[in-house]
Amino acid sequence: MTAHQWRGVITEYSDRLPVDAATPVVTLREGGTPLIFSERLSAETGCEVHLKFEGANPTGSFKDRGMTVAVSKACEEGAAAVVCASTGNTSASAAAYAAKAGLTCAVIVPKGRIAPGKMAQTLAHGAAVIEVDGNFDMAFGAVRDLASRFDVALVNSVNPYRLQGQKSLAFEVCDMLGRAPDLHLVPVGNAGNITSHWMGYREYADDEVVAATPRMFGFQAAGAAPLVHGAPIADPETVATAIRIGNPASWDGALHAAADSGGGIAAVTDEEILAAQRRLMREEGLFVEPASAASVAGLLTLHGRGSLPADATVVCVLTGHGLKDPQWGNRDAEPTATLRADAAAIAQHLGLAAR
Ligand code: F0G
Repeated sequence: MTAHQWRGVITEYSDRLPVDAATPVVTLREGGTPLIFSERLSAETGCEVHLKFEGANPTGSFKDRGMTVAVSKACEEGAAAVVCASTGNTSASAAAYAAKAGLTCAVIVPKGRIAPGKMAQTLAHGAAVIEVDGNFDMAFGAVRDLASRFDVALVNSVNPYRLQGQKSLAFEVCDMLGRAPDLHLVPVGNAGNITSHWMGYREYADDEVVAATPRMFGFQAAGAAPLVHGAPIADPETVATAIRIGNPASWDGALHAAADSGGGIAAVTDEEILAAQRRLMREEGLFVEPASAASVAGLLTLHGRGSLPADATVVCVLTGHGLKDPQWGNRDAEPTATLRADAAAIAQHLGLAAR
């Protein structure tokens, strides 16, 4: 038996992506992430709940699925530099793929609002980091203007290649389950993900790879929920900094995904997000950043409202790794002890019985 390596999103799904033999494939073997059955969440909700752990991507978030396509196409089209605005994960991913491709990368981020792990990644991969006084929406406005007037490729999710790559998550879920789920739950920030996942499910259903499409549910943080309120929010606020966005670029795509699929967009509070994150860490063994837990917070909200059909197959997308924002991982943890390097002292501290 020889080991088989997952080949990355472009090679695994080349017939469904805008690439051909002339496209130089820039890949870190992204995608192929675990789809993990949750015994506890299934028992609690009466559904079959699966968690799609996107923290297992090379830079620790789902962004790599889109970035491999966007950066490969930028190379094909002769770009010398890529640029993006970001709440942190897009910038980490853009920096890594630009490094692999040998491109220059610049990222524009809201000052003081990027989780430390994401900033470390972006700097580690050699990107130029420009902090702006203001939020993501302002940084995004500036970078769109920059890319329209200067010679640089924009790799935010308004780049259509990003969404093409990100739709691969829906293919993987169907390929791994052998069918489409009944419900697909995902955190929403700039709304590229929910838009692209719906594209992927629709494509598989149209081509009769699967018989049905799931109902799509997107969850925004309550302090940053413009889609729920029906209007942009000037000053979004949430502990889930990844989704602290007041005017999502893929606004229409998100609303279409929810409406066309018979799903919806709802808000979850920061308390619900942190409680769901804690459960994932303590009961599932999955370290996720706060924004990632919005899908599970949403699952528990739908369950609380009695809105989950019995026995439904549900997929919750966990979008990014907890190591990116570790301050949230150790809250209410057991205090650490400093002891002598001595078995008896350690056993006493732990309350272990002698063998
Ligand atoms: N979860 C995480 C961990 C994210 O980083 C993001 C977006 C989302 C969810 C929301 O996804 O924008 O497709 O609706 N982060 C972007 C960034 C905005 O700049 O890293 P979306």
